[in-house]
Amino acid sequence: MTDETRYTLDEFVDFEEGSELEKIMRKFSSRMQLYSGGIKEVRTKLEILDEEFKSKFSYNPIHNIESRLKSMSSIVQKIKSKGLEVSIDSITENITDIAGIRVICNYIDDIYRVAEMLTAQDDVTVLQMRDYIKNPKPSGYKSLHLIVEVPVFLSTGPVRMPVEIQIRTIAMDFWASLEHKLKYKTNNAVDDDLHERLKKCADEISVIDYEMQDIHTTINSRNKSE
Ligand code: GTP
Ligand code: MG
Repeated sequence: MTDETRYTLDEFVDFEEGSELEKIMRKFSSRMQLYSGGIKEVRTKLEILDEEFKSKFSYNPIHNIESRLKSMSSIVQKIKSKGLEVSIDSITENITDIAGIRVICNYIDDIYRVAEMLTAQDDVTVLQMRDYIKNPKPSGYKSLHLIVEVPVFLSTGPVRMPVEIQIRTIAMDFWASLEHKLKYKTNNAVDDDLHERLKKCADEISVIDYEMQDIHTTINSRNKSE
């Protein structure tokens, strides 16, 4: 289980000393603790749901949970690439994936189960839901994406923070990590071929995911009727 929710001031080495950008990001860094709190709140909710499910149905819907805080330099890069001004308000409003959680499930049904159990909670507000399982990306990418808002409790009261949650199966995650590498190590001459091969893998993985789901459901219902 990885938990990359810490942040350090070392990140400021990326910014020119004394520059306006550095001043803004230094101020913004005080908010990072809130995003980190958002990750912790959601992670705890997911762990509690996973344990409850296990005690009721004798299996865990969640295989593992990963989390990360977006780095200061990635935040700046993203806000600039959107053509927006670099200010605390603009970042707060427009960058909703500073707190990121990835939930890896064993089976497809678990993805929707986990999403439903989480979003049904009174203090969880869904800001956005994108179903790339029912509507995969042209690349072949599949996952269920949610942006939720959760309260982080400070001494001065609760502050609602956005957290991006990507929920996918082990197989979808296996595929996405390899495809992600292609984005960094580009070699145009062979890329078209690699994209095509990856798309084919995505289709094959999808068939396996549904077949594994079906076998799992069949075994479960047999165990119940015995
Ligand atoms: P970003 O600017 O990348 O955050 O895109 P977005 O705000 O339009 O959101 P989207 O739902 O498209 O994607 C959010 C995140 O999902 C990305 O940052 C990736 O982590 C992941 N993702 C989306 N599409 C792909 C894809 O084609 N391949 C892989 N490997 N990951 C993807
Ligand atoms: Mg993103």
